[in-house]
Amino acid sequence: MEDEFKIFPYIRERRLRSSKAMRDLVAETAFDTSSLMLPMFIIPGKGKSQKIESMPDVIRQTADIAVSTVSRALNLGIKSFLLFGIPSAKDEMGTGAYDENGVIPDAIKKIKKEYPEALIAADVCMCEYTTHGHCGIIKNGRVDNDLTLPVLAKAAVAYAEAGADVVAPSSMMDGQVRAIRAALNDSGLKDTVIMSYSSKFASSLYGPFREAADSRPAFGDRKTYQMDYRNGRQAMREIELDISEGADIIMVKPAMFYLDLIFTARNRFNLPIAAYSVSGEYSMIKGAAMNGWINENDALMELIYSIKRAGADIMITYYAEKIADMLRQR
Ligand code: PBG
Ligand code: ZN
Repeated sequence: MEDEFKIFPYIRERRLRSSKAMRDLVAETAFDTSSLMLPMFIIPGKGKSQKIESMPDVIRQTADIAVSTVSRALNLGIKSFLLFGIPSAKDEMGTGAYDENGVIPDAIKKIKKEYPEALIAADVCMCEYTTHGHCGIIKNGRVDNDLTLPVLAKAAVAYAEAGADVVAPSSMMDGQVRAIRAALNDSGLKDTVIMSYSSKFASSLYGPFREAADSRPAFGDRKTYQMDYRNGRQAMREIELDISEGADIIMVKPAMFYLDLIFTARNRFNLPIAAYSVSGEYSMIKGAAMNGWINENDALMELIYSIKRAGADIMITYYAEKIADMLRQR
């Protein structure tokens, strides 16, 4: 203590915080709009956009409107998009997920036709397409892992054939990356990238998404396939397995509440790491801001920098456009 007092007049950390230029000069963390990925909810039809109650300013949109959203985002410097489909009809087996003329293949083609330079990723899961809302095929009241794999593989091939650059399996079935890689290769789609939702937790933060995608499970929950939030080592094992199965990009999801895992994964693996800042993260900030309790812009920048600081390369966020706008104004 005495020593610290002696050096105090000389050493002052506050010098490096004295002005904006000085703070910017010594800032350790930076990213640009190339790291952002914008999720979009696609509905069938034409000329329609719908509000999502629990996600103010986020919409469900038809493919033609999605094309203009992509155009606007590209102008802001956002180059990557993650598509979720909401089909006109759901069924027990989720057949809409792999319909070649379904909502996602159609949207991919329309976007790629106008903007071939836009990077399109398609979420691969069953929950938006099944009447029961689970992420896989149900047998004897349980989500059956191995019955689900071929269906996920068919969906991935349908999206890749429509022109998706990336397929993103999110159902948390064991072996999904391997099944999809094999099916893509068999179909001559050797260059399609797999971004795997490797460590995806059973999280309270998906609530608003489930309203948006109408994918709430009709019975039970997702805890038999999504991870338990008490387990960090297991998350590393999930990532390891996905890498061994052929994943090109790994993901931690959600991002907020799981920054430790992004950090650990960054230090352990050499693949690009995506972090998905999920719907609940968006809605928490938006909701508090709408009540005047926090400043939206400040909060969302603090969140996104925390995700980057933890070590994410790719950041998936519903705030992508707002962030891009803010990066421009600095
Ligand atoms: C589908 C899927 C979900 C999300 C991404 N893909 C929902 C879920 O698992 O229930 C959540 C994304 C978000 O909350 O923003 N498996
Ligand atoms: Zn799902």
